[in-house]
Amino acid sequence: MGHVLAVVSQKGGVGKTTTSVNLAAAFARRGLKTLVVDVDPQGAVRYGVGLKRGHPTHGFSDYLNGARGLREVILPTALPWLRVMLAGTVTDAADHGTYHALVAETDVLKELLTAARERCDVVIVDTPPGLGPIVHKVLEASQHVIVPLQCEPLALQTTPQILRGIQDIVAMNDELTLDGILLTMYERENPACERVAQYVRSHLPANMVFDVVIPRTIASTEAFAAGQPVVLREPADAASQAYVNLATVLAERFE
Ligand SMILES: Nc1ncnc2c1ncn2[C@@H]1O[C@H](COP(=O)(O)OP(=O)(O)O)[C@@H](O)[C@H]1O
Ligand SMILES: [Mg+2]
Repeated sequence: MGHVLAVVSQKGGVGKTTTSVNLAAAFARRGLKTLVVDVDPQGAVRYGVGLKRGHPTHGFSDYLNGARGLREVILPTALPWLRVMLAGTVTDAADHGTYHALVAETDVLKELLTAARERCDVVIVDTPPGLGPIVHKVLEASQHVIVPLQCEPLALQTTPQILRGIQDIVAMNDELTLDGILLTMYERENPACERVAQYVRSHLPANMVFDVVIPRTIASTEAFAAGQPVVLREPADAASQAYVNLATVLAERFE
Protein backbone atom coordinates (compact mmCIF):
# COMPACT_ATOMS: atom_id res chain seq x y z
CA MET A 1 0.00 0.00 0.00
CA GLY A 2 1.40 3.41 -1.00
CA HIS A 3 1.17 6.74 0.77
CA VAL A 4 -0.97 9.76 -0.02
CA LEU A 5 0.88 12.99 0.74
CA ALA A 6 -1.01 16.28 0.62
CA VAL A 7 0.72 19.63 0.15
CA VAL A 8 -1.37 22.24 1.96
CA SER A 9 -1.07 25.90 2.98
CA GLN A 10 -3.27 28.77 4.05
CA LYS A 11 -1.79 31.14 1.47
CA GLY A 12 -1.33 30.91 -2.28
CA GLY A 13 2.01 31.49 -3.95
CA VAL A 14 4.07 29.83 -1.21
CA GLY A 15 5.48 26.99 -3.30
CA LYS A 16 2.85 24.22 -3.03
CA THR A 17 2.85 23.38 -6.72
CA THR A 18 6.63 23.69 -6.98
CA THR A 19 6.98 21.38 -4.00
CA SER A 20 4.44 18.89 -5.37
CA VAL A 21 6.05 18.50 -8.78
CA ASN A 22 9.63 18.47 -7.55
CA LEU A 23 9.02 16.02 -4.73
CA ALA A 24 7.16 13.84 -7.20
CA ALA A 25 10.04 13.96 -9.69
CA ALA A 26 12.52 13.21 -6.90
CA PHE A 27 10.49 10.20 -5.73
CA ALA A 28 10.09 8.92 -9.29
CA ARG A 29 13.84 9.22 -9.83
CA ARG A 30 14.35 6.99 -6.79
CA GLY A 31 12.27 4.39 -8.61
CA LEU A 32 9.11 4.91 -6.59
CA LYS A 33 5.94 4.65 -8.62
CA THR A 34 4.55 8.16 -8.22
CA LEU A 35 1.34 9.96 -9.16
CA VAL A 36 0.72 13.70 -8.82
CA VAL A 37 -2.94 14.67 -8.53
CA ASP A 38 -3.89 18.33 -9.00
CA VAL A 39 -7.15 19.19 -7.26
CA ASP A 40 -6.58 22.96 -7.37
CA PRO A 41 -8.98 24.36 -9.99
CA GLN A 42 -6.23 26.83 -10.92
CA GLY A 43 -4.49 23.79 -12.37
CA ALA A 44 -0.87 24.96 -12.18
CA VAL A 45 0.63 21.44 -12.12
CA ARG A 46 0.01 21.36 -15.85
CA TYR A 47 2.66 24.05 -16.34
CA GLY A 48 5.37 22.61 -14.16
CA VAL A 49 5.37 18.84 -14.20
CA GLY A 50 7.15 18.13 -17.48
CA LEU A 51 4.38 16.87 -19.76
CA LYS A 52 5.03 16.11 -23.38
CA ARG A 53 4.09 18.75 -25.91
CA GLY A 54 0.50 18.50 -27.11
CA HIS A 55 -0.60 16.48 -24.09
CA PRO A 56 -4.33 16.30 -23.33
CA THR A 57 -5.58 18.79 -20.74
CA HIS A 58 -8.43 16.81 -19.24
CA GLY A 59 -7.97 15.59 -15.71
CA PHE A 60 -9.53 15.16 -12.30
CA SER A 61 -12.51 17.49 -12.84
CA ASP A 62 -13.46 15.57 -16.00
CA TYR A 63 -13.30 12.28 -14.14
CA LEU A 64 -15.29 13.80 -11.29
CA ASN A 65 -18.16 14.88 -13.54
CA GLY A 66 -18.17 11.60 -15.42
CA ALA A 67 -16.95 12.98 -18.77
CA ARG A 68 -13.74 10.91 -18.77
CA GLY A 69 -12.66 7.51 -17.56
CA LEU A 70 -9.79 6.97 -15.14
CA ARG A 71 -7.38 5.74 -17.80
CA GLU A 72 -7.91 8.86 -19.88
CA VAL A 73 -6.98 11.24 -17.09
CA ILE A 74 -3.74 9.60 -15.95
CA LEU A 75 -1.05 11.04 -18.18
CA PRO A 76 2.55 9.94 -18.70
CA THR A 77 5.42 12.38 -18.15
CA ALA A 78 9.05 12.54 -19.21
CA LEU A 79 9.88 10.16 -16.31
CA PRO A 80 8.81 6.51 -16.56
CA TRP A 81 7.80 6.29 -12.88
CA LEU A 82 5.94 9.58 -12.79
CA ARG A 83 2.34 9.99 -13.85
CA VAL A 84 0.05 12.94 -13.44
CA MET A 85 -3.62 13.70 -13.13
CA LEU A 86 -4.17 17.34 -14.06
CA ALA A 87 -6.98 19.48 -12.64
CA GLY A 88 -8.74 19.17 -16.00
CA THR A 89 -11.06 21.44 -17.91
CA VAL A 90 -12.32 23.14 -14.71
CA THR A 91 -9.19 25.25 -15.17
CA ASP A 92 -10.76 26.96 -18.19
CA ALA A 93 -14.08 27.66 -16.47
CA ALA A 94 -14.75 31.13 -15.05
CA ASP A 95 -16.75 29.66 -12.19
CA HIS A 96 -15.61 26.66 -10.18
CA GLY A 97 -18.86 26.28 -8.22
CA THR A 98 -19.99 23.00 -9.75
CA TYR A 99 -16.53 21.53 -9.27
CA HIS A 100 -16.44 22.54 -5.59
CA ALA A 101 -19.92 21.15 -5.00
CA LEU A 102 -19.09 17.82 -6.67
CA VAL A 103 -15.90 17.39 -4.66
CA ALA A 104 -17.62 18.33 -1.41
CA GLU A 105 -20.77 16.27 -1.90
CA THR A 106 -19.41 13.04 -3.37
CA ASP A 107 -16.81 10.47 -2.31
CA VAL A 108 -15.15 10.41 -5.73
CA LEU A 109 -11.95 12.08 -4.51
CA LYS A 110 -11.57 9.81 -1.50
CA GLU A 111 -12.21 6.69 -3.58
CA LEU A 112 -9.78 7.89 -6.23
CA LEU A 113 -6.98 8.51 -3.73
CA THR A 114 -7.59 5.19 -2.03
CA ALA A 115 -7.45 3.36 -5.38
CA ALA A 116 -4.34 5.29 -6.43
CA ARG A 117 -2.63 4.32 -3.21
CA GLU A 118 -3.17 0.66 -4.00
CA ARG A 119 -1.35 1.05 -7.32
CA CYS A 120 1.39 3.58 -6.49
CA ASP A 121 4.12 3.98 -3.91
CA VAL A 122 3.46 7.70 -3.50
CA VAL A 123 0.48 9.87 -4.43
CA ILE A 124 1.16 13.60 -4.08
CA VAL A 125 -1.85 15.90 -4.00
CA ASP A 126 -1.43 19.57 -4.89
CA THR A 127 -4.24 21.59 -3.33
CA PRO A 128 -5.84 25.04 -3.52
CA PRO A 129 -4.93 27.50 -0.72
CA GLY A 130 -6.80 27.33 2.59
CA LEU A 131 -8.62 24.57 4.40
CA GLY A 132 -11.85 24.56 2.43
CA PRO A 133 -14.02 21.55 1.60
CA ILE A 134 -11.66 20.32 -1.16
CA VAL A 135 -8.64 20.25 1.14
CA HIS A 136 -10.77 18.61 3.86
CA LYS A 137 -11.66 15.81 1.46
CA VAL A 138 -8.01 15.38 0.50
CA LEU A 139 -6.88 15.18 4.13
CA GLU A 140 -9.56 12.64 4.96
CA ALA A 141 -7.88 10.30 2.47
CA SER A 142 -4.22 11.20 3.19
CA GLN A 143 -1.59 9.68 5.44
CA HIS A 144 0.86 12.59 5.23
CA VAL A 145 0.65 16.35 4.97
CA ILE A 146 3.37 18.93 4.55
CA VAL A 147 2.90 22.67 4.85
CA PRO A 148 5.16 24.93 2.76
CA LEU A 149 5.87 28.22 4.51
CA GLN A 150 7.35 30.98 2.43
CA CYS A 151 10.08 32.81 4.36
CA GLU A 152 8.34 36.17 4.60
CA PRO A 153 6.78 37.97 7.58
CA LEU A 154 3.15 37.51 6.53
CA ALA A 155 3.61 33.75 6.75
CA LEU A 156 3.73 33.99 10.53
CA GLN A 157 0.19 35.31 10.65
CA THR A 158 -1.39 32.64 8.49
CA THR A 159 0.48 29.54 9.62
CA PRO A 160 -1.05 29.06 13.10
CA GLN A 161 -4.50 28.96 11.46
CA ILE A 162 -3.64 26.17 9.07
CA LEU A 163 -1.80 24.19 11.74
CA ARG A 164 -4.84 24.30 14.05
CA GLY A 165 -7.07 23.27 11.18
CA ILE A 166 -4.81 20.35 10.30
CA GLN A 167 -4.59 19.25 13.94
CA ASP A 168 -8.41 19.10 14.00
CA ILE A 169 -8.41 16.84 10.96
CA VAL A 170 -5.55 14.71 12.35
CA ALA A 171 -7.78 14.15 15.39
CA MET A 172 -10.44 12.64 13.10
CA ASN A 173 -8.18 10.72 10.70
CA ASP A 174 -5.82 8.67 12.82
CA GLU A 175 -3.90 7.58 9.71
CA LEU A 176 -2.87 11.18 9.03
CA THR A 177 0.44 12.63 10.22
CA LEU A 178 1.49 16.26 9.91
CA ASP A 179 4.98 15.56 8.62
CA GLY A 180 6.12 19.10 8.98
CA ILE A 181 6.47 22.65 7.85
CA LEU A 182 8.77 23.21 4.90
CA LEU A 183 10.50 26.58 4.70
CA THR A 184 10.45 27.68 1.05
CA MET A 185 11.98 30.46 -1.05
CA TYR A 186 14.61 31.00 1.60
CA GLU A 187 17.10 33.80 0.93
CA ARG A 188 20.24 33.67 3.02
CA GLU A 189 21.08 37.34 2.48
CA ASN A 190 17.64 38.61 3.42
CA PRO A 191 17.34 39.56 7.14
CA ALA A 192 13.51 39.41 7.14
CA CYS A 193 13.69 35.92 5.69
CA GLU A 194 16.23 34.82 8.27
CA ARG A 195 14.07 36.25 11.09
CA VAL A 196 11.04 34.29 9.90
CA ALA A 197 13.04 31.07 9.72
CA GLN A 198 14.43 31.61 13.22
CA TYR A 199 11.04 32.52 14.64
CA VAL A 200 9.45 29.39 13.20
CA ARG A 201 12.23 27.17 14.53
CA SER A 202 12.16 28.69 18.00
CA HIS A 203 8.36 28.66 18.40
CA LEU A 204 7.49 25.23 17.05
CA PRO A 205 8.61 21.79 18.20
CA ALA A 206 11.80 20.76 16.39
CA ASN A 207 10.15 17.72 14.81
CA MET A 208 7.50 19.94 13.21
CA VAL A 209 9.87 21.88 10.95
CA PHE A 210 11.95 20.07 8.32
CA ASP A 211 15.71 20.57 8.60
CA VAL A 212 15.70 20.76 4.82
CA VAL A 213 15.03 24.31 3.63
CA ILE A 214 14.20 25.16 0.00
CA PRO A 215 16.22 28.16 -1.18
CA ARG A 216 14.85 30.67 -3.65
CA THR A 217 16.80 30.10 -6.85
CA ILE A 218 16.69 31.49 -10.35
CA ALA A 219 16.78 27.97 -11.77
CA SER A 220 13.50 27.18 -9.95
CA THR A 221 11.70 30.09 -11.55
CA GLU A 222 13.17 29.31 -14.95
CA ALA A 223 12.28 25.63 -14.72
CA PHE A 224 8.66 26.49 -13.94
CA ALA A 225 8.58 28.85 -16.93
CA ALA A 226 10.04 26.05 -19.07
CA GLY A 227 7.39 23.63 -17.83
CA GLN A 228 9.69 21.26 -15.97
CA PRO A 229 10.54 20.37 -12.39
CA VAL A 230 13.84 22.02 -11.48
CA VAL A 231 14.94 18.65 -10.08
CA LEU A 232 15.04 17.38 -13.67
CA ARG A 233 16.03 20.51 -15.53
CA GLU A 234 18.87 21.64 -13.24
CA PRO A 235 19.79 18.80 -10.87
CA ALA A 236 22.82 20.65 -9.47
CA ASP A 237 20.74 23.67 -8.41
CA ALA A 238 20.47 24.23 -4.65
CA ALA A 239 16.66 24.02 -4.69
CA SER A 240 16.84 20.74 -6.65
CA GLN A 241 19.22 19.25 -4.13
CA ALA A 242 16.98 20.39 -1.28
CA TYR A 243 13.96 18.70 -2.86
CA VAL A 244 15.95 15.51 -3.41
CA ASN A 245 17.02 15.59 0.26
CA LEU A 246 13.42 16.13 1.34
CA ALA A 247 12.36 13.13 -0.73
CA THR A 248 15.01 11.07 1.05
CA VAL A 249 13.76 12.15 4.48
CA LEU A 250 10.17 11.34 3.55
CA ALA A 251 11.01 8.04 1.84
CA GLU A 252 12.65 6.87 5.09
CA ARG A 253 9.44 7.69 6.97
CA PHE A 254 7.40 5.77 4.43
CA GLU A 255 9.28 2.52 5.07
N1 LIG B 1 12.46 27.79 -4.55
C1 LIG B 1 11.97 28.69 -5.39
N2 LIG B 1 12.80 29.58 -5.99
C2 LIG B 1 12.31 30.53 -6.84
N3 LIG B 1 11.03 30.64 -7.18
C3 LIG B 1 10.14 29.79 -6.62
C4 LIG B 1 10.56 28.77 -5.70
N4 LIG B 1 9.47 28.08 -5.31
C5 LIG B 1 8.42 28.63 -5.94
N5 LIG B 1 8.81 29.66 -6.73
C6 LIG B 1 7.95 30.52 -7.58
O1 LIG B 1 6.99 31.13 -6.76
C7 LIG B 1 5.73 31.19 -7.43
C8 LIG B 1 4.67 30.50 -6.58
O2 LIG B 1 5.01 29.12 -6.45
P1 LIG B 1 3.91 27.98 -6.56
O3 LIG B 1 4.61 26.69 -6.39
O4 LIG B 1 3.09 28.16 -7.78
O5 LIG B 1 3.04 28.30 -5.26
P2 LIG B 1 1.56 27.82 -4.85
O6 LIG B 1 1.30 26.53 -5.53
O7 LIG B 1 1.61 27.70 -3.36
O8 LIG B 1 0.63 28.90 -5.28
C9 LIG B 1 5.93 30.54 -8.78
O9 LIG B 1 6.17 31.55 -9.74
C10 LIG B 1 7.17 29.70 -8.59
O10 LIG B 1 7.92 29.53 -9.78
MG1 LIG C 1 -0.32 26.00 -6.75
